[in-house]
Amino acid sequence: MYLDYNASTPIDPAVAAAMRPFLEDHYGNPSSGHWAAATAKAALETARAQVAGLLGCQGDEIVFTSGGSEANNLALKGMFFAARHKGDHIISTRIEHPAIIEPCRFLERQGAQVTYLPVDGTGRVDPDDLRRAITPRTILVSIMHANNEVGTIQPIEDCARMAHERGVIFHTDAAQSVGKISTGVNELGVDLLSIAGHKVYAPKGVGALFVRRGVSLEPLVHGAGHEGGRRAGTESALLAVGLGRACELARDLAPMNRVRSLRDRFWRGLQDRFKDRVVLNGHPTHRLPNTLNVSFVGRIGTEILGLLDDVAASTGSACHSGRIELSPVLEAMGVAPEVGMGAIRFSLGRATTRDEIDVLIERLTKLPAAAG
Ligand SMILES: Cc1ncc(COP(=O)(O)O)c(C=O)c1O
Repeated sequence: MYLDYNASTPIDPAVAAAMRPFLEDHYGNPSSGHWAAATAKAALETARAQVAGLLGCQGDEIVFTSGGSEANNLALKGMFFAARHKGDHIISTRIEHPAIIEPCRFLERQGAQVTYLPVDGTGRVDPDDLRRAITPRTILVSIMHANNEVGTIQPIEDCARMAHERGVIFHTDAAQSVGKISTGVNELGVDLLSIAGHKVYAPKGVGALFVRRGVSLEPLVHGAGHEGGRRAGTESALLAVGLGRACELARDLAPMNRVRSLRDRFWRGLQDRFKDRVVLNGHPTHRLPNTLNVSFVGRIGTEILGLLDDVAASTGSACHSGRIELSPVLEAMGVAPEVGMGAIRFSLGRATTRDEIDVLIERLTKLPAAAG
């Protein structure tokens, strides 16, 4: 039973089919000028247009990266090194993924001042806190679109507007939201947006950063002028094609309605059986449709999952599982330790079935480690 789609998704068969010719036949370097390059180059640009189509931007605003982490690093470090003459202050939040927190820590060692905004008990940032935190030295605000652990969706439109009122560039990490809710860059009003292929049914090792025209970044990788001079290295048409096809499929959000209703069925089933011994972590409505982070009060999430060894789900976040201490996200939300320790993140996806959910509710109910 796979309920860890926020950690990674399987590759969609249509994505694999689109990639296959580039694995087997089209080996040319997209930058070369001869016949062997033509297919790869055309495919790369089609893929760029497909990613841009999902985000509602132009192809030349897409930079392919190795994934969400690199896209975030490019946004943060690239912005800091390009704009440090203007200021040294960055604003982010306490609940970001390590792929944001760690570049921020690195930049602090390079002289940046970073403000980490608090969140409320549902994991939401207060735009007024952002307004108060902006100073004349602020060069970048980076607030995730949706949280990987609890699924809470941030008021990105309001936050981006506030940053722009003060002339500050706005980045969002949309690794978790893309393909689950709308991620149009103009509706959100963002200047930079990161996505990760393996969260949206494309392979691991590919992602993209949207960089609005007119925003300049210092590259992380210097070399030949690939990706508009923003990321050197011969592009992988194979991976780009996978991401492009996945983004094309992700434009249709209708499958998420089914996922949302399964997720809600799961929560209702647990509430029904466990009453006040289960608590929902995250925002009740401003939340990703596939994410159910629940605490079995007074229990240990890792112990419960340890007894369900055929069930793939997560305690804390899969990127740093194996740790037994309270996750920094739940801690920032002010979740009490005896509640937070019992947290399990179930994240559903395209292949999740109603039977799986019903069977899991039964099994959890019968499990002394969960039910007591
Ligand atoms: C919110 C968020 N940002 C960034 C990442 C990192 O993406 P990648 O694994 O593609 O580097 C993840 C992965 O878990 C994530 O959930």
